Amino acid sequence: MAFKEYRLGAAMVGGALGLSMTITIFMPSFDLRSAVSTKMALEKQLSAGFDIGFGYADPLLLGINRPITVDLETDPKTGAKLDPPVRAYVYKAGVPMPPNIRHPHDLGKGVQDLSESQGQISTVSGSNHSKGSQEGVVFTLALGEFNGEELTYIENASVTKGWTPDATLAAAGDKNTHLISKGKTEFVVQGCWWCHTLLPEQTQDWQAFGAPPYLGDFNGENPTAFGSDRKAPDILHVASRNSSREWMMMHFFNPRLVQVNSIMPRFDYLWGDKDAQGNTIDFDKWRAEYKEYSEGKRTYPPEVPDYAPDSEIRALIDWVLSLK
Ligand code: HEC
Repeated sequence: MAFKEYRLGAAMVGGALGLSMTITIFMPSFDLRSAVSTKMALEKQLSAGFDIGFGYADPLLLGINRPITVDLETDPKTGAKLDPPVRAYVYKAGVPMPPNIRHPHDLGKGVQDLSESQGQISTVSGSNHSKGSQEGVVFTLALGEFNGEELTYIENASVTKGWTPDATLAAAGDKNTHLISKGKTEFVVQGCWWCHTLLPEQTQDWQAFGAPPYLGDFNGENPTAFGSDRKAPDILHVASRNSSREWMMMHFFNPRLVQVNSIMPRFDYLWGDKDAQGNTIDFDKWRAEYKEYSEGKRTYPPEVPDYAPDSEIRALIDWVLSLK
């Protein structure tokens, strides 16, 4: 009797193990990489580039070796006017390629086909894509048709249009240059994700913070920066409700300038030592004047200094304003 019970138990364990193995092997759950990349996913990965979390190209997360996003009003090669402006993603020589240039299969059906046939992405030169290409590459996004469906795909504009990284950066000028990749790293490094999410997730969110992302919006994003839990507004679409650079400057320098009881910390140290004119920023003087203002001894708060073009705050604001 006891022997039989033992056999029954063993058969049940075997059955359960077999069933779970069958499910694991023959019925895999969905694979994120099989989701077709949306336009948002392509924008995100081209502007952020390869691995903006820990990576060997930028182990200390300093925002080096990153692509640069520009808006072009003139063609870098011919000088012809571009109306509307064209967004381009500049990878200088040696900057690691975005994930799906290295693994085009993961772009998903249709987007891969168009990016390879029309967009010429497989011609990126350089044997090792993780070290970037030898001459650098400029990418753009284009619209194409695949099986009757309209899809956005990646174009290697260095091959299709002859745009070189240097000519593209020069044609855009600093005003139309956005350091989005470096700014996204700041979101990770500064710990903004302790308070902010990049994922509107509940129905009541959608009215205030915009629509939640689709599965395909994350294709090629590494790491996905969802945020942890939420103590502050979701900022996935923040630039659609507020695209004011001045407001962002005030709010980052001292959130209490625009939101009296804000719990958000000051990020004034991201300005660095010097302002846009190269003058040393006197933080002590600023805070003393701000104290007088908050005590009612001054009518206006002190002015927030203009930031230098190579400051960390410039990159952070460039990224925030790209969140449409
Ligand atoms: C301690 C929590 C906290 C941290 C850390 C924090 N924030 Fe905030 N943030 C807030 C709160 C709360 C608000 C709502 C407005 C306010 O109170 O200032 C806000 C507002 C914002 C807004 C405007 C949102 C809107 O809906 O208009 C942006 C943009 C923003 N934060 C970006 C950042 C970035 C970037 C960082 C990291 C450098 C950061 N925040 C760090 C709490 C935080």
